[in-house]
Amino acid sequence: MAFDIPGYISTAGRVQVDDLDLDAFAERPLSEEALRCLRYMSDVESHTICYLRDVLVTPSHRDPDVTAFMSMWAFEEFWHGEAIDSVLRAHGQKADYDHIREVREAQGVKDRLAPIYQSVAANAIGDDFVAVHMTWGAINEWSAHAAYGSLIEKEQHPELTKLLGRIQRQESRHLAFYASQAKERLERSSRARSLTRWVTDRFWQPVGSTIQPVEETRFVLGHLLGDDEGAAAVRKIDEKVHKLPGMDGLNLVQRGVAGFGAGVPVAGTGDDRGGSRKRGLVAGAALLAGAAGIAAVRRRSAGSQA
Ligand SMILES: [Fe+2]
Ligand SMILES: [Fe+2]
Repeated sequence: MAFDIPGYISTAGRVQVDDLDLDAFAERPLSEEALRCLRYMSDVESHTICYLRDVLVTPSHRDPDVTAFMSMWAFEEFWHGEAIDSVLRAHGQKADYDHIREVREAQGVKDRLAPIYQSVAANAIGDDFVAVHMTWGAINEWSAHAAYGSLIEKEQHPELTKLLGRIQRQESRHLAFYASQAKERLERSSRARSLTRWVTDRFWQPVGSTIQPVEETRFVLGHLLGDDEGAAAVRKIDEKVHKLPGMDGLNLVQRGVAGFGAGVPVAGTGDDRGGSRKRGLVAGAALLAGAAGIAAVRRRSAGSQA
């Protein structure tokens, strides 16, 4: 069934927090592990506007269905970050724009180059790039929904359950949009299927891992998805991805989680944002090389058809 865009944009909104009893966290605080996960989640939600910047320089910006959705999507994700920050502040943690600025400044050169290589690569590829974007978005939204669900189960805190349940309901609408768009675009183009399979197979990484130190991603994946229930949730996401045209058998999320050694005890707490920077740069260079190859093939086939 097609996603109801007018219905979504007319009902999208700020996640409700006014009735949350934040004082309940003073009486019964969340675990240290949960707060560490919430910090990671808030950082990712607050970074949405930067992801939006990177996709608006691609062919996705030409599709008014996509831009209508993304206008509201960015708004809702912004408020997810703000809502989670209110829980962090209720535990005496710093959660403000200075922190968000620190996260953005820590991204370094990768952040400055991302819109450039995204733009060059995606525009060389053309409209089929939108299928990659939509598929990528679906995988990330499925992942976010599962992560919030796991945190609800682990903490069993009524106020946290109330907030994260509301966030999950909004994530459900996001994933419905991305998944329906991905399915439609992959179905109608074999080139989109090959391209999306190739790009996600090589470059997809767990949500937030490109902006967070490795040990934070490893910790969050291990805490939320490292047990039997988590493994089942990860398999379920992969099953959904496999149902998308051309995406069968990739096991992206299982491989992504395993790649971070989730569930394995971690030694040391050194900052490895440099590591995520390097991975981002390598991915960018590879994407550019791939796009240059595709553009060359397009030029050759256009020449042979003339
Ligand atoms: Fe969100
Ligand atoms: Fe979302």
